[in-house]
Amino acid sequence: MKEKILRALHSAGGRFVSGAWLCEQFGVSRQAVWKNIVSLKENGFEIESVTKKGYRLSAVPDKLYAPDILSRLPEDCICRKAECFQTIDSTNTKAKQLAELGAEEGTLVMAEEQTAGKGRRGRNWESEPGVGIWMTLLLRPALLPVKVSGLTLLAALALVRAVKDICGVEAEIKWPNDVIVAKKKICGILTEMSSEENYVHYVVVGIGINANTTSFSREVEETATSLYLQTGRKTDRAGLTAAWIEKFCSYYETFLKIQDLSFVIDEYNQVLANRDKEVRVYYGMYRQTSLENTEVGIARGIDSDGALLVEIEGQVKRIVSGEVSVRGLHGYV
Ligand code: BTN
Repeated sequence: MKEKILRALHSAGGRFVSGAWLCEQFGVSRQAVWKNIVSLKENGFEIESVTKKGYRLSAVPDKLYAPDILSRLPEDCICRKAECFQTIDSTNTKAKQLAELGAEEGTLVMAEEQTAGKGRRGRNWESEPGVGIWMTLLLRPALLPVKVSGLTLLAALALVRAVKDICGVEAEIKWPNDVIVAKKKICGILTEMSSEENYVHYVVVGIGINANTTSFSREVEETATSLYLQTGRKTDRAGLTAAWIEKFCSYYETFLKIQDLSFVIDEYNQVLANRDKEVRVYYGMYRQTSLENTEVGIARGIDSDGALLVEIEGQVKRIVSGEVSVRGLHGYV
């Protein structure tokens, strides 16, 4: 009911929505509508109620509130269930637990704070309370396991689009899964799956967005930034969350139909930070400091499988994510 009321109030775009109309639409009593309005107000939503006019949404709180996020999504979006935790170890861990218990595709887990946020390659992900967007979407895709890494690329591309729409910022992608602004990371993506050789049980796409973070630990401060630090404006976290889900789900549906990334190659390559620049490919251990097992080439873009095409001594090599890391010659990008 709260989701439905918020959907009606959001769609009204600041105009009043009559109480009688809400009752009729949802087939409930005036009292039931009022009870939900009171609960929304308790959750920080500023809703004016004026006799004979109805209700008007005048301000939304800066929090990730599940009915609010769902109310901003198209009704046919695959994301139909969401839960937001104040504090949790990791939204990926929670989403995997829910998946094992049979949760349906499109279940979203969000948290205001993660106490054990997970990064790639066993690293930790800083997840301070109230300033970021820490969320995981559970999917049950009809894809071969080898294709699942494409979801990470689509998640990054969806974020670039969402950041442009909501914050007016031109972000770029550091292949395969970092979204950057001014050469620093604003978002990381951790995709995990449970599969058999030729069958995917489920995938969790975890995305961490540094929205309003004001400072980072020593360890990451050189490579990390936030949308707030870049723009000087507070990010609308709920708006950005919904924009990412909507865009990602729409890419996801096309990906399932086509089964490759041909439909986004151009779009992706346009925002690829390293495109036509020199990169060093590290085939060995991640974060190695020696240049052993590395090669230098020019990144040319992705192919329809999401591999990075790198021109090395006149030959184009396909670099597959997960096997290697790619960095700029003079630093992170
Ligand atoms: C990386 O760049 O190393 C990936 C970071 C992924 C962080 C997100 S935050 C939400 C989700 N839950 C986690 O524990 N990790 C991902």
